[in-house]
Amino acid sequence: MPPGAALVEIHDATIYRGSTCVFKNLNLNINQHEQTAILGPNGAGKTTLLKLINREIYPVAKKHSWVKLLGRESWNVWDLRSQIGIVSDDLQSRYLRTTTGLDVVLSGFLSSIGTHGSLAKRITDIQRERARDIMLDLGVEKNANVPLRRMSTGQQRRCLLARALVHNPSTLILDEPTAGLDLAASFAYMGRIRRLVREGRNIVLVTHHLNEIPPDIGRVILLRQGRIIADGPKHEVLTVENLVATFDTPLRLQTIDDYYLAYPEEHRTAGRTVPKT
Ligand SMILES: Nc1ncnc2c1ncn2[C@@H]1O[C@H](COP(=O)(O)OP(=O)(O)O)[C@@H](O)[C@H]1O
Ligand SMILES: [Mg+2]
Repeated sequence: MPPGAALVEIHDATIYRGSTCVFKNLNLNINQHEQTAILGPNGAGKTTLLKLINREIYPVAKKHSWVKLLGRESWNVWDLRSQIGIVSDDLQSRYLRTTTGLDVVLSGFLSSIGTHGSLAKRITDIQRERARDIMLDLGVEKNANVPLRRMSTGQQRRCLLARALVHNPSTLILDEPTAGLDLAASFAYMGRIRRLVREGRNIVLVTHHLNEIPPDIGRVILLRQGRIIADGPKHEVLTVENLVATFDTPLRLQTIDDYYLAYPEEHRTAGRTVPKT
């Protein structure tokens, strides 16, 4: 990789999902170690953007349009998978409910869903040991032989994070990693993300919850209907004005330490609080 190359460089990209044009002439650069969160309403294009970075989808081919990852436009899928780890609900839901925790983690080595059939033979003892070490580190070692259907959502999500880490990737792409987790599990998950940042990894995080943006995230991109509404340092982007323009709902905003919290704008009348309509 060229020294100092941007994590991702998107130039004039037009991207379709099916017949829907999600992004038209998108320009976006994310540098390494910028630690970025992407926020926006459902359907804004967040997952599409992550899939573009991860090369699961490609822009319309045209002159002077490109998507470079770590300075390169073309990637061998195996090299790419060792650079980027992914956690998403989408990926989680593609696993059979009978797949065991260890198989979920091992499947990361094969960039597959599960390790069934002849693929399982390609797993080495060293890989198995590495998978168990990561599971131990993430506190899911007891789930090695447990099928997904018997794990809590938090345990499933940790197995998926372990899967993403098997290649020790420099970058982690997290698409709503706390979706479906209870408070304790999502806080614990955030703690892990913070640790991964401190280890020097790049994080690109999509979330719906302002309070789940770890303080380590420095840059925020607000998306709505395939357009970038605001992009820059977190404290400049996370304003009431920008959030209202993005989510189209009246809200108030509070900052506690380096965390942000959005809550509904309400009228106060004679001791009662009524939602504004
Ligand atoms: N596989 C698909 N086929 C057709 N349209 C899709 C597909 N996936 C997503 N879309 C459309 O693309 C747009 C962006 O979706 P997505 O990137 O998933 O948004 P977000 O992650 O922000 O909720 C939406 O209008 C959605 O309906
Ligand atoms: Mg999405």
